[in-house]
Amino acid sequence: MVKLTIDDKVVEAEEGLTILDAANQAGIHIPTLCSHESLSPIGSCRVCTVEIITDGTSNLATACNYAVEEGLRVRTNSEKVVQARRLAVELLLAQRPHSDRIRELANKLDIEKPSFTLKQKECILCELCVRACHEIVGVDAITFIAQGINRGIDEPSIEISPIKCIGCDSCAYVCPTEAITVEDVGDTRIINTPGGKMEFKLKKCKTCGNYWAPEKQLDYIVEKWHLEPEIFDSCPDCRD
Ligand code: SF4
Ligand code: FES
Repeated sequence: MVKLTIDDKVVEAEEGLTILDAANQAGIHIPTLCSHESLSPIGSCRVCTVEIITDGTSNLATACNYAVEEGLRVRTNSEKVVQARRLAVELLLAQRPHSDRIRELANKLDIEKPSFTLKQKECILCELCVRACHEIVGVDAITFIAQGINRGIDEPSIEISPIKCIGCDSCAYVCPTEAITVEDVGDTRIINTPGGKMEFKLKKCKTCGNYWAPEKQLDYIVEKWHLEPEIFDSCPDCRD
């Protein structure tokens, strides 16, 4: 265990935890956007910025991917932190002004609108979808495309392989800006992405007749876990 101070509160945390984890355990709220408890952090949005004081020097860092250290002093709400966090949220808001998640973060910081203008885009490059597809689903269907000098700002920043994608909708579930959305229409699942849309045939439950999951996703699960294909003949509601 290591002992650190967060906002004048002495906190004990297990080695390997992040400042965000330690703050959460101590009931101290740090706002986040690109972090998810089930995914490895990459520190891209900077919403979780905190001030770290070591050996008399103060630096800004992202709490979601900064490991706790013995004797660390952390401020989550200093003037320096609030200024940096406001800038991070203004940048996000300028790019995606209609996202509920971003608007909620802005409201908490009393930001009505950003003080500058940026080209609006659907994807804020948080990579949550890429991490979910890789770390949880294990399919690696989503690739993050770096914004090189030859790429236009309107071009999508993620690419989903229609061959690898199984239509599970994990990416839409974690996307904080609705850049990826999913809808089931009749026997078809439609996944809308910044680069276009993909369609997946849904399996019909032989008991109730409802369409309930993409056939490709079920085939993937059957193969991965060596299950009998008949296990998915009925939907979860009709299985005991
Ligand atoms: S599509 Fe959504 S989840 Fe994926 S990188 Fe863009 S904003 Fe993040
Ligand atoms: S939540 Fe930490 S950088 Fe995004």
